[in-house]
Amino acid sequence: QTLTVKVNTPQHTVQPTMWGIFFEDINFSADGGIYAELVKNRSFEFAQPLQGWKVIRDANAGKVLIVNRAPENAANPRYAHITTTGSFGLFNEGFRGMGFKKGETYNFSILAGNTTGDITIKVVLLNDKGTAIGSATVGTPGKDWKSYTASITASETVAKGGLQVFFEGKGSVDADMLSLFPANTWKQRPGGLRSDLVQLLADLHPGFVRFPGGCIVEGKDLVNRYQWKKTVGPVEDRTLIVNRWNTEFPYRAPGDYYQSYGLGFYEYFQLAEDIGAEPLPILNCGMACQFNTGEVAADEDVNNYIQDALDLIEFANAGTDTKWGKLRADMGHPRPFNLKMIGVGNEQWDSQYIVRYKMWETALKTKHPEIKLVSSVGPSPDDERFRYGWSQLKDSKADLVDEHYYMAPDWFLQNASRYDNYDRKAPHIFAGEYAAHIKDKEKDQPESRNTWGSALAEAAFMTGLERNADVVNMASYAPLLAHVDAWQWRPDLIWFDNLRSVGTPNYYVQKLFANYKGTNTVPVLEKGKALTGQDSIYASATIDAAKHQLLLKVVNVSTAVRPYKIQLEGATTTKEAAVQQLLTAADKLAINTLDEPSLVAPRQQKLTVTKNSASVTLQPSSVNVFVIPY
Ligand code: AHR
Repeated sequence: QTLTVKVNTPQHTVQPTMWGIFFEDINFSADGGIYAELVKNRSFEFAQPLQGWKVIRDANAGKVLIVNRAPENAANPRYAHITTTGSFGLFNEGFRGMGFKKGETYNFSILAGNTTGDITIKVVLLNDKGTAIGSATVGTPGKDWKSYTASITASETVAKGGLQVFFEGKGSVDADMLSLFPANTWKQRPGGLRSDLVQLLADLHPGFVRFPGGCIVEGKDLVNRYQWKKTVGPVEDRTLIVNRWNTEFPYRAPGDYYQSYGLGFYEYFQLAEDIGAEPLPILNCGMACQFNTGEVAADEDVNNYIQDALDLIEFANAGTDTKWGKLRADMGHPRPFNLKMIGVGNEQWDSQYIVRYKMWETALKTKHPEIKLVSSVGPSPDDERFRYGWSQLKDSKADLVDEHYYMAPDWFLQNASRYDNYDRKAPHIFAGEYAAHIKDKEKDQPESRNTWGSALAEAAFMTGLERNADVVNMASYAPLLAHVDAWQWRPDLIWFDNLRSVGTPNYYVQKLFANYKGTNTVPVLEKGKALTGQDSIYASATIDAAKHQLLLKVVNVSTAVRPYKIQLEGATTTKEAAVQQLLTAADKLAINTLDEPSLVAPRQQKLTVTKNSASVTLQPSSVNVFVIPY
C-alpha cells in the first residue's frame, strides 16, 4: 500500500496557534500545583480560618485568635493574633503535605506587626515523621506591619513534609500571609511557579494558553465567578474564593480547595509569554454555570462584565499612562502582553447566551476590532440543545467557536473527518477542550486513566483537525494538570505529586503534533483519498516551508503491523537524515506513572528515503511522525 504525499501542493496555512494548552484550576492545578506556594490557607481566609493549621504547643503557652478587619481590609480581612508566654507554634500541613528536596532552599515570609513584649519568630521544616530537616530564625517583629523573611535549606528529600512556625517570648503579635516557596521556581521568580511543571508545558511549544478555565470562569453562581481584577496587584490584596471544584466529587477535595489567586491574570500572561504562546483569557459573559444555578446577570449589569473585558485589554495592551497599563507596569511588565483574543463565556449556549454574546460583540468590535472573540457553545458536540446557539453564531459570523468533546474513543475515531465537509464560511473552530474518556471517572476504573488507548484515539482525531487547519485554528486537550492525591477529574494531560511530574501518553501525542506542526497542510492520499480510518489508518501531513521538511503523521489504530510505502510527489529529498518518531505500546491500558514516567514515550528512529520514497512499517497501535527533509 502506498501513501502519496503531495509535497508541492500546499493547501491550508496552519495557524501558529494550532496546538495549545488549556489551564484550569481543577485537580489542585494552581494552589497545591503549579503555583509553588507550600502553605495552605496562608492568610486564614478559608471558611474554617485554621483549616490546614494546627496549634503545636501546649495551649497554656499561648493562643491564636483569628481577627476580622473587613471594614479596613475587605480583600484580605483575617489575620492571626498570637499571644505567647514562652513558645507558641502553628503547624501547616501544606497541600497534601509539602515536598522538600535535599540541599534546596525554601524561602519563608510573614507579615507581622502590632507586637507587644519581645517575640522572636522561628521556622522549622519537618519530614513526614515530624523530624526537623531545616530551621531558621525569621526575626523579631515590631509595632508596624512589616514583612519578615528567612531562607531554610532542607537536609532531606521528603514528599509529605510540613512547616512549623514558632512565636517565642512573652507578649503578642499579629501575623498574616505566612508563606513558604522553593527558591528554585520557574525562572527563579520569588513567589513563582513550579519549574518542573512549567518546563513540561514549555516542552509542548504550545501556540496559546487558554486560562483560567473552564467551569471556574462561570462559577456555580455569579458571586463565585472568576473576576480577573481580584487576581492582580500585590498577592496579599487578592481576594481568595472557594474553588468551584471544591465540592464536586468531594472524596478528593474535602472542603479545602480554594483559589488564593497567587496565580492570577498577570502570572498567566507572563506564563504565556515565557513559553512563547498567545494568551487566551476566557471571561465570564454574565452567566453562571448552566448546569448549576444558571444565574444570569441582569441586562443592565452585563455592561459591567463588558467593561471588565475592556479593562483587561487595557491591562494587557495599553500604555503605562493608563490605569490598568500602569498596574501591569507596577507589577513588573511595562511592555504590553500583546493580547489578541478573548473568550466570551464557557460552555454557554442558549438564547440568554446569544443575547449576551451580541452585546459583547457590539462593544468589543467597536472599541477593539483587532481583538478576536471566541464564543462558546455547550459541552457535548452534536447535542440538540446547542443547535440554536450554533446557528446564531454562524449567522453573526463569529470569529471562533469553542467546541468541547469529552467523548468515547470511538467517537474520536468516527469524527476524524468531522470538519472535512465543514462549511468553509462558518465560524472557525477552537477545539477548546477534548479528551477521550473510556469509562466513568467517578468510579475510579483503570480505564478512566490516561491510557494509551485514549491517546491513540485522540491522535487519530487530531489528524482530522490538522487536515482542516483552514477552519480549525486552535485546539487544546483538557484538563491539563492533576495532583495524584487531590484530583476531581480524569483523564488529565500531566500528573504530579509534591515533588515529581509525569507526561501521559496523551501528553506525548500533543507534543508530537505541536512540535511537528509545520506551516501548511499538504495532501496525503491513498488511492486518491484522504486517510480517515480506512483500514484503521488515519493520516495528515504538513510541510515546514522555511525548514523544507515534510511532517507526516500516520496513526495505526489496528492491532496489525502495516507495511506502507511513502511516496513524495513534487519534492526532492536531500541527503539529510530523515527520522521517524514512534509512539506505541502493546497494551491499550498502558499508562505512565510517576515511578515509570516513560513507559509510553516517543522513540526516534532513522528513516531511509531513496528517490522520494520510503518503505515503512507501522507498528500495531502506533502514532508515527515522519520528518523528511526535502
Ligand atoms: O475540563 C473540565 C471541565 O470540563 C471544564 O471546567 C468545563 O469547561 C468542562 O465541562
